[in-house]
Amino acid sequence: MKETLKFERYPATRNVSLQAWNAADEHLLKHLAEEHLKDLKIAIINDRFGYLTCTLSEYDTSSVISYKSQEKALELNSALNSITLDKKRNFDPLMGLPGKFDLGLIKIPKSKALFELHLRQINASLNTDGTVLCGFMTRHFNPKLINIAERYFDNVEQSKAWKKSRLLVLKEPKDVETTPGLKTIEFDHPKTGKVSLQQYPGVFSSARIDPATLFLIDHLKLSGTEHKILDLASGNGILALTASILNPEAEIHLMDDSFLAVESSKLNLNSEKANFHYCDSISELDQQDFDLIISNPPFHFGHETNIEVSLKLFKEVHKSLKPGGKFTLVANKHLNYKTHLIPTFGQVSVLAENRKFIIYECLK
Ligand SMILES: C[S@@+](CC[C@H](N)C(=O)[O-])C[C@H]1O[C@@H](n2cnc3c(N)ncnc32)[C@H](O)[C@@H]1O
Repeated sequence: MKETLKFERYPATRNVSLQAWNAADEHLLKHLAEEHLKDLKIAIINDRFGYLTCTLSEYDTSSVISYKSQEKALELNSALNSITLDKKRNFDPLMGLPGKFDLGLIKIPKSKALFELHLRQINASLNTDGTVLCGFMTRHFNPKLINIAERYFDNVEQSKAWKKSRLLVLKEPKDVETTPGLKTIEFDHPKTGKVSLQQYPGVFSSARIDPATLFLIDHLKLSGTEHKILDLASGNGILALTASILNPEAEIHLMDDSFLAVESSKLNLNSEKANFHYCDSISELDQQDFDLIISNPPFHFGHETNIEVSLKLFKEVHKSLKPGGKFTLVANKHLNYKTHLIPTFGQVSVLAENRKFIIYECLK
């Protein structure tokens, strides 16, 4: 096990208290130190910055990559430590893992549904005498994690706390059906009436359309001159779908950092009319010069509240709009995005606001 490696976060943060790993990662490795790793085939899941993947790079590991930013973090940290990571050992969260595994290491994600998807994926590929270790910070514990684990494993134990982290140790995989766990959201779309959307686990707002998004849908109007539209941070694609309803002639693009979000939006929009981008940076799109960019931008990164990603995206939005193009976004009022938008856009107005949410229109 490599022990003196350097790690950086991608996306970068100015908050020095945020690290590229935490005690839950260390706890997972501490638990392994006693085992005979070289004989094991290991699956690593939800390793956001590559700490586990790089530290265990000399062993037979496969990593599940769910985010474009995660893929980039892994590339960054492997390069930083002169480690060559084999791309063939990276898998997406809907793909079956190759062959059978002896050990699964899961950093438990914030979304319980996503945790369950990861458990289904590893359950299907674990040897009957294999073990899955799931690391989490004690403050994020929820008894439902145990209930979920017990659906897939007969033997579920919780470790003692160490540095405010714990492990779930799962053994004896059950023989269960593996489904991708698609969820359906049905709602009355203010522009068209009944709409039914599908999404994979872990995609934003799985029980209902987010109230901020609904507020934007209620107020979104297109003039008909917006030919090229980007739904930035598109999730299940609801805003892109709305734009395509308001202007069926427009060229629609969707971009999200989450693989499962992009795959979900493919289920909800006609692929002949929409263009899907699994991407975390607008400047990397082969398409630029948008007439309109619409968004309910992210302000969480895993368990952290974090607007740095959005502030970076706002600067990219300005570059990717046509001169005269418009950026329409909805946000929680308390985020006070106006102070960040004005230095970049100059012209920022409020399209609508209520007690909780605000919609800004920014002109280039
Ligand atoms: C608040 S949700 C909005 C989702 C969807 N537009 C809706 O209204 O339901 C924010 C989305 O931003 C995505 N995201 C986070 N960082 C991103 C980035 N750098 N680039 C693109 N999307 C990102 C998340 O995966 C999530 O789907």
